[in-house]
This record gives sequence, C-alpha cells and structure tokens, in this order.
Amino acid sequence: MERTLVLVKPDGVQRSLIGIVITRLEQRGLRLVGAKFMQVSKDLAERHYGMHKGKDFYDKLIRYITSAPVMAMVWEGPNAVEAVRQTMGLTRPTQAAPGTIRHDFALEIGYNITHASDGVENGENEVNMWFHPEELVRWERDVDRWIFE
Ligand code: RTP
Ligand code: MG
Repeated sequence: MERTLVLVKPDGVQRSLIGIVITRLEQRGLRLVGAKFMQVSKDLAERHYGMHKGKDFYDKLIRYITSAPVMAMVWEGPNAVEAVRQTMGLTRPTQAAPGTIRHDFALEIGYNITHASDGVENGENEVNMWFHPEELVRWERDVDRWIFE
C-alpha cells in the first residue's frame, strides 16, 4: 500500500482549509494513518525542501513553510502518491485543473495551499522524515473493501 505525506501549508491553515483538504482526500477514498498540527522548524523545512536548495525561490519557500503552523498528514491507498498529486493539482494554481484544490482555492504559486510527495520513494522518505513510526496508525476501515480492489 502506497503512503504519501500531505501538508496543509501555512496559507491553507490560516485560511481555514484544513477541513476541506481532509474532506477531499477522504472522499477520494484514501485512508488517513497519521496527522499532527505543528510548527515547522527551520531544520525540518531545510531537510524537506533540500532538493530545491540553490533555486531562486528557496529562501522564500523556507520562510513560507515556517511562517505559521501546518497540518502534516500521512494518507495511504493504492496509487496514493499519484492520486493525491492529482487531487492537489499542478504546482501553479492557474495551471491546475478545475476541481483540484489548487485551482479551487489558490491563485499564486507561492501560496498553493498544500504539499504532496512527488514519488513513491519520496513518499516513504518524507513520511519517515515527518513522523515517528509510533505516530502512524495501522488500521482497516470497514469500507476499504468497496474502495481498494
Ligand atoms: P509541493 O512540493 O509543495 O507539493 O509542490 P510541487 O511538488 O507541486 O512543487 P515543487 O516544484 O516541489 O515546489 C515546491 C514548492 O515551492 C514553491 N514554489 N515556488 N517559482 C516559484 O516561486 C516557486 N516554485 C515553486 C511552491 O509552494 C511549491 O509548492
Ligand atoms: Mg514537490
């Protein structure tokens, strides 16, 4: 079963969109296995966005992700990485498809509401970076048999 890290970033938290993001992922059929509301440290921000170090938007990105609390979550399901990326929409909100979170709630690339892991291996790495194993819940939902083939 694939797992992916989802963040409702500071703009999403400030705009009271935590519930909407959770609702959309629940409606998609994904299963929540971990969640915590937290202030991101500079150290975690730099590890999380290490792949963007050196890019012109890097400093702004670190300031953004540490500027207010985030809601960090782990979601799982078949093809969870691809499914969640699709539900979030393309990075630039004006290129995101209607019906995606970034299309429906954002305008600017620097305030695009959510983060989602961009690959299966990255998903595992990011889950391990943000959560201790004991913070993740192993469970079966009664409705799983109608959603997971
Ligand atoms: P994320 O990692 O947050 O899920 O977003 P993503 O994969 O769709 O996009 P990525 O390329 O990983 O970029 C990470 C975040 O950096 C900000 N960004 N700003 N040109 C810019 O000003 C710019 N480009 C990227 C966005 O917040 C993006 O989500
Ligand atoms: Mg990314």
